[in-house]
Amino acid sequence: MTAPHLDIEAFAALCSQDLDLSHYPLASGLEKNVLLYEGDEVRAGLALASFNQAIRREFAHVLQHGSGVFVIQNAFADKSVIEHMNQVFEAIFAQETGKASGDHFAKAGANGRIWNALQKSALLNPEAFIDYYKNPLLLLASEAWLGPHYQLTTQVNVVRPGGQAQAPHRDYHLGFQEPSELARFPMHAHLMSAQLTLQGAVAHTDMPLESGPTLLLPFSQQYELGYFAWRDETFKQYFAEHAIQLPLKQGDALFFNPALFHAAGTNYTSDFHRSANLLQVSSAFGRPMEQLDRYAMTRAIYPALREQWASLNGLEREALLYNTCEGYSFPTNLDSDPPLYGLAPQTMQQLTLQALNEGLTVEAFDPQLQQHAQKRQA
Ligand SMILES: [Fe+2]
Repeated sequence: MTAPHLDIEAFAALCSQDLDLSHYPLASGLEKNVLLYEGDEVRAGLALASFNQAIRREFAHVLQHGSGVFVIQNAFADKSVIEHMNQVFEAIFAQETGKASGDHFAKAGANGRIWNALQKSALLNPEAFIDYYKNPLLLLASEAWLGPHYQLTTQVNVVRPGGQAQAPHRDYHLGFQEPSELARFPMHAHLMSAQLTLQGAVAHTDMPLESGPTLLLPFSQQYELGYFAWRDETFKQYFAEHAIQLPLKQGDALFFNPALFHAAGTNYTSDFHRSANLLQVSSAFGRPMEQLDRYAMTRAIYPALREQWASLNGLEREALLYNTCEGYSFPTNLDSDPPLYGLAPQTMQQLTLQALNEGLTVEAFDPQLQQHAQKRQA
């Protein structure tokens, strides 16, 4: 397709909508067109199948047809879990000191960045990893948008005092392509791009307004030509005039449609380091942005997971397996990895669940993991 005509008035009309809170009865509030959910209420509701279904519908609806963004306040009730993970991040930063770590939309060096924080934290501190990623609310939000077998990746972003705002943008997939490349994808692929990932951010410190929490432009995900538009000066100007910010507390989690125009804000403080664990969750049907060695992650956390298995509830178990292991059978080598039952070969997730339920030692489990990896190779 050729580069289209961008219509700022159509964009402004979309972004001038107001979200109707009455359509989202499980939300606890609405601020600047961002739905707020209370973590304690959501955790309590998860035991009910009807609540589970209803809240997933609300999340999916607001991401697709609503303002494109919601916050779960107090998504991590136990702040020591976040603090423990912050120590892990510090250790990773210390290991990586001196390594240039560029950012897609900000000047290199202005921010602290840990790529593939998910794998690095699993390998460095399995206990901290388990305490963090057993959180069922991460699974709930991810599944609501992407369905089962999603693939979690995480990246840490620390914005230092004086750190400047990012340019407004959309994210992966098509947000990371140059305009000439964008035009090669048909419009239905532009719309599909936003269906393939979910963006999230867990606040690892409080994020008062002066520290620059993410700037968001509610409803902007609805503009179909948005992957072309975010580089346009008129649209940048509109963003600068209309984007909103919400202060977050440590442990709050923000989720948004990857097509929502957004940008990390300026940190105006002189001494406050704003820190977030960014979640980029991919559909089973898409390619994630980062390559993870999920076998190495599973092997690393298995001994601690086996020890804790009996004390974890069903939701925590599911969240951990989803957030760590590959849960989808494909791509594989169907000559050497044929289906055991049904039409799909056994997944890493099923294999790990079976080992944990049988209480296999890591010495017994390790060869199974290795064989699983090998038979899937071409
Ligand atoms: Fe972004």
